Amino acid sequence: MTQNYRLTLLPGDGIGPEIMSVAVDVLKVIAKRFDLEFEFHYALVGGSAIDETGEPLPQETLKQCKESDAVLLAAIGGYKWDNLPRHQRPETGLLGLRSGLQLFANLRPATIVPQLIEASPLKREIIEGVDLMVVRELTGGIYFGEPKGIFTDTDGHQRGFNTMVYADWEVDRIAKVAFEIAAKRGGKLCSVDKANVLDVSQLWRDRVTLLANDYPEIELSHLYVDNAAMQLVRSPRQFDTIVTGNLFGDILSDLAAVLTGSIGMLPSASLGQGVPGLFEPVHGSAPDIAGMDKANPLAQVLSAAMMLRYGLDQPQAASHIEQAVHNVLEAGYRTGDIMSREMTLVGCQAMGKLLITALEV
Ligand code: IPM
Ligand code: MG
Repeated sequence: MTQNYRLTLLPGDGIGPEIMSVAVDVLKVIAKRFDLEFEFHYALVGGSAIDETGEPLPQETLKQCKESDAVLLAAIGGYKWDNLPRHQRPETGLLGLRSGLQLFANLRPATIVPQLIEASPLKREIIEGVDLMVVRELTGGIYFGEPKGIFTDTDGHQRGFNTMVYADWEVDRIAKVAFEIAAKRGGKLCSVDKANVLDVSQLWRDRVTLLANDYPEIELSHLYVDNAAMQLVRSPRQFDTIVTGNLFGDILSDLAAVLTGSIGMLPSASLGQGVPGLFEPVHGSAPDIAGMDKANPLAQVLSAAMMLRYGLDQPQAASHIEQAVHNVLEAGYRTGDIMSREMTLVGCQAMGKLLITALEV
């Protein structure tokens, strides 16, 4: 029987629409091959939503997302909207989407693609074989903690503050996801905090340690975030799965991504419980090359693969896409961001066509 899925597509801003269009073409081929049916519903978010409706996350968009089986997002933001007040910034739309759907678990893999190893800023012997997953808490911590704000104190000085807070159950639920992911990967979990200074981190560490009793097969370690940043650069192969809070995860996942040298290749997934997942590339909207047919669509396409694997439970379809990406790279085709000597430079659309051909074999 044909499986039917309702997908909300959020092309967003900058290169978003170009790379989304490649992912949609890929999904259409996948549908035929694996006897799936996708119903595509486009919606507005980010800067393009601000231009049309005055707000970065229209109610209608959130409603559509909630009614779908999965949400595929491209990228948001651009210079044009950078100076608007915070509640009208594109980023606020993204945060609203995460909290509105209660997507508390953010999965950010950083895998070295063998064909692109030269693109890494690190030496080959350090980076070779790196395959790690950052599990970032996404709906709590200092990003959403209250109270917060900027106020004028009795001494006449302005003070800005945010609150880094985690409830025990918030730590438990993200740690559980991380333990389970570690079990499916290399069986090692490193929890990152700042427990030498922060009370919130002490609670984090205590809860993760307690939960480890339920996962005797997982090798758990703890690192302070400053040390974790250093270790990620010094010897990244020691890591398998990393679990950490919202802010530390924001920083470390960018660090992990750049190690691979190809941020244009990295997908991500944001998952909750009993809600549709959100799948998006790690990179941004690259407004400087928007509309020029220069963008690398592979992270978007790999996000669609992640959607199939983690959101729709179609691992074979996911693998088929990943294999096609591998084959196109193996054949020497590159977009500008991952170009190196003796390879063939192609644009976004041409890369899409090559993928389609690779999918059809
Ligand atoms: C990310 C981004 C966002 C974040 C911004 C755009 C709000 O940096 O997804 O990592 O800080 O979470
Ligand atoms: Mg970030």
